[in-house]
Amino acid sequence: MRQQLIVCGTDTDVGKTVVSALLTLGLGAHYWKPVQCGLEGGGDRDRVGRLLGLSAEQIQQRLLPEAYRFSAPVSPHWAAELEGVRLEQERLDLPAVPGPLVVETAGGLLVPLRRDLMQIDQIQRWGLPVVLVARSGLGTLNHTLLSVEALRHRHIPLLGLILNGPPHADNPGTLRELSGAPVLGGLPPLPQLEAAALAEAWQTSGLHAALCGALGAP
Ligand SMILES: Nc1ncnc2c1ncn2[C@@H]1O[C@H](COP(=O)(O)OP(=O)(O)OP(=O)(O)O)[C@@H](O)[C@H]1O
Ligand SMILES: [Mg+2]
Repeated sequence: MRQQLIVCGTDTDVGKTVVSALLTLGLGAHYWKPVQCGLEGGGDRDRVGRLLGLSAEQIQQRLLPEAYRFSAPVSPHWAAELEGVRLEQERLDLPAVPGPLVVETAGGLLVPLRRDLMQIDQIQRWGLPVVLVARSGLGTLNHTLLSVEALRHRHIPLLGLILNGPPHADNPGTLRELSGAPVLGGLPPLPQLEAAALAEAWQTSGLHAALCGALGAP
């Protein structure tokens, strides 16, 4: 089974990095954030390193360096323009890693990487299936259904949804029903964002079985 996947979100700040850390830990994967906008605090690669409590050596080995790092915490197309850089798709080609790989996108599907290139175009080029991270609560139905529609429109395989935040009584079932996509699991708010809490969340989330099922493992 090829456990390589794209972690995309329905929006910025929905928990892509935290969920990517969870999947990186659970799958024993490499992590890659190809386009980082906003370097205050070091960016998502450093945050995953801290969330997983990795040593400097482990960070070098498992968290691949970004293809592009832009200072401004704005959309990639503008962050690149502000630095006079043209983002080239060849530099975004997937790194050749032997095993599992988690790729975190910059923002949501229709975020422009350039004025003539959307995040979703790049996802199509990568050819890996998508895990869509969505808020668990109010606002998620519209954002999530729009994102699923965009993926389906381009025939991009969707492994399923991961709902981040306080468990909600109705949304998982409604999302499943209206999107036709499986809800792979949920991640509740963690009071301590650290490796031990993520490891426990991985055990209790049922994500391993759900992901293996979605990826077509025996
Ligand atoms: N399950 C959770 N428990 C506790 N805090 C969380 C959880 N999920 C996300 N957060 C916090 O919410 C904020 C946003 O999460 P995160 O950085 O993972 O979002 P993102 O989608 O990766 O954002 P960006 O678009 O900037 O990459 C962070 O401060 C993160 O620590
Ligand atoms: Mg992030």
